[in-house]
Amino acid sequence: MIIKKIILNNFRNYFHLNLDLNEKMNIFIGKNAQGKTNILESICVLALTKTYRYGVEPNLIAFNKEKSKISAKVKKNNIINNLEIDIDQNNKKIKVNKKSIQKISDYISNLNIIMFTPEDLEIIKGSPHIRRNLINIELSQISKKYLNTYNEYNKILKMRNEYLKLLLTSSLADKKYLDIITEKLIEKSIIIYQERKKYLDFINLKIKNIYKNITDEEILSVKYEPNIFIENYETEILTEKLREIFHQNYKKELNYGMTLFGPHRDDFSFYLNDKNLKLFGSQGQQKIAILSFKLSEIDIFKEYSQENPVLLLDDIFSELDIQKRNKLLDYINKDIQSIITTTDLKNIRKKNINNAYIFEIKNGEVERRQ
Ligand SMILES: Nc1ncnc2c1ncn2[C@@H]1O[C@H](COP(=O)(O)OP(=O)(O)OP(=O)(O)O)[C@@H](O)[C@H]1O
Ligand SMILES: [Mg+2]
Repeated sequence: MIIKKIILNNFRNYFHLNLDLNEKMNIFIGKNAQGKTNILESICVLALTKTYRYGVEPNLIAFNKEKSKISAKVKKNNIINNLEIDIDQNNKKIKVNKKSIQKISDYISNLNIIMFTPEDLEIIKGSPHIRRNLINIELSQISKKYLNTYNEYNKILKMRNEYLKLLLTSSLADKKYLDIITEKLIEKSIIIYQERKKYLDFINLKIKNIYKNITDEEILSVKYEPNIFIENYETEILTEKLREIFHQNYKKELNYGMTLFGPHRDDFSFYLNDKNLKLFGSQGQQKIAILSFKLSEIDIFKEYSQENPVLLLDDIFSELDIQKRNKLLDYINKDIQSIITTTDLKNIRKKNINNAYIFEIKNGEVERRQ
């Protein structure tokens, strides 16, 4: 996919912006607080209909304005689509080629992105829900089956938790009904387990070489850690296993009033050789590990959707030494469209940015320099 043009109206510190982008590399240079992250965030909102920031959705509308709008011309399968998101204080309206879209699942995948932000260090350091959130966002972009299954899973999970509480307090509640909900939950759980395992296996095929390429160092891998022990991911075996776990832990779950087993409690970790990066990694190592993860995803996205995603890299050079900055750029410099922000291009080799568009950002205004 290629973003040909992006237009922002009253989005954060941009009042009006109309930009034609390069099909390959685009670099935005600016001092702190000029609007570098805001540009990438606007593209993220356009792709996912929400910001990547964890937790509460921050205010995307420029101060003192009522509404904001993000629109773009995006090339997918050689067809150019017009994507628009109108944002007001309470909701967002999505249009593709002027036609309103009601369901987010019908919209996602018009624009696929892989985004790196400085906050992504939390992917290694932070709590498991941050890692689950990452996998959910990525798989939802490329697999409608995953997105729908995941939404259904959450609905069933909520129902099951409510029913567990009811079973403890009301004599009208019936264990047989819980069993029906449990069966449905198991069915969805298995798809999520299988898809996540497949995704992380795929990452492991790629991540080692990318990390080694940039660092000349050790061996990086990721390890899927579902909250139940799984040896075999075949549907039938996994179904039996989950049935048994829920059967054995019925009393326990009843006491807690919630579902204690399932992919809503999954996790995964990063390992350098056999050392857990969360415990032993330096800041730079962690950053490159996450960048390597994201770069591994490019091939996976292509495999699933036959299209390259757009790569968004916010403030990628800080904390990296000269050699790593250039190796990273060298690696990115491929067929894919990338949008990169940085405060400066110090120590960046000319040959790595020869064909890039270079923009300067000052206080929400953008000017092309190369
Ligand atoms: N809703 C908003 N309306 C207007 N301005 C906003 C809004 N939200 C944030 N800003 C401002 O946008 C400016 C640019 O923010 P941004 O995060 O894009 O900066 P940046 O160039 O990425 O800086 P840094 O190098 O520090 O990461 C900040 O001054 C911020 O106060
Ligand atoms: Mg920033």
